[in-house]
Amino acid sequence: MSFIQITDTHFVPGDALLYGTSPRKRLGAGVDLIRRFHGDAEAVLVTGDLAHHGEEGAYETLKEALAPLEMPVFLMMGNHDSRAPFRKVFPDAPGIEGGFIQFSLDVAGARVICLDSLNDAPGDHEGRLCDVRLSWLDRELGSVPADRQVVLALHHPPFDLGIPAMDRIKLRDGEALFEVLQKRRPAQMLLGHVHRPISGHWRGIPFYLQRAFNHQVYLSFADRKEVEFVAENPDIGIVRTSEDGIQIFTRSIGGEGEPFPHEEA
Ligand SMILES: [Fe+2]
Repeated sequence: MSFIQITDTHFVPGDALLYGTSPRKRLGAGVDLIRRFHGDAEAVLVTGDLAHHGEEGAYETLKEALAPLEMPVFLMMGNHDSRAPFRKVFPDAPGIEGGFIQFSLDVAGARVICLDSLNDAPGDHEGRLCDVRLSWLDRELGSVPADRQVVLALHHPPFDLGIPAMDRIKLRDGEALFEVLQKRRPAQMLLGHVHRPISGHWRGIPFYLQRAFNHQVYLSFADRKEVEFVAENPDIGIVRTSEDGIQIFTRSIGGEGEPFPHEEA
């Protein structure tokens, strides 16, 4: 059983370029890859920064780009998103009181709880989880059957990664989130925002952070003041579940090649 994670598609309207590449073309290649190799995935989850400037036209282009996928697609908010234009284009998207785009999925045998960490202060890229969102999470965690694995998806990492420009805009409410998670610790967290593939654990909770689709963050642990980007091939995350646990694979776009047989030397 599996589902797909992609993140940080940063759509702009139509065929416009962003940092010299076309978000539409890049995601189009990802959609082709999913259709070709992973048609049995139960869902596709996009973990935020769907659009770069959060405008309606970008969400319309995203909707067109995702249309060839045959499995359900679930869309989350990131710091570049805007809820009102998103809702205009995706009126059936699930949500909770306060207009937050939070929801739970029963997919691949797991309960995937998707949080909305978009900051309500315009232009502030730091992530937030207010009392409304955390109270909902608390209730949701309390409702998961004991035999069902919990996967927690949110855009902003709630901890420092040692990449200073991104650490400055992490989730501000990490301590409050950690406290709520003591009710039921997730088996896995899925993150976005940092535009780099990173795995590890946060105080014992495993996380996987998926590489961004259009542009990647330059990997440097020096304090470079401003975030800088670099062009790398995007990839998709394939989240596979079993009774024994969870495994996450990546498949790259543009480098998959054809399989060839083993030969003895
Ligand atoms: Fe992003």
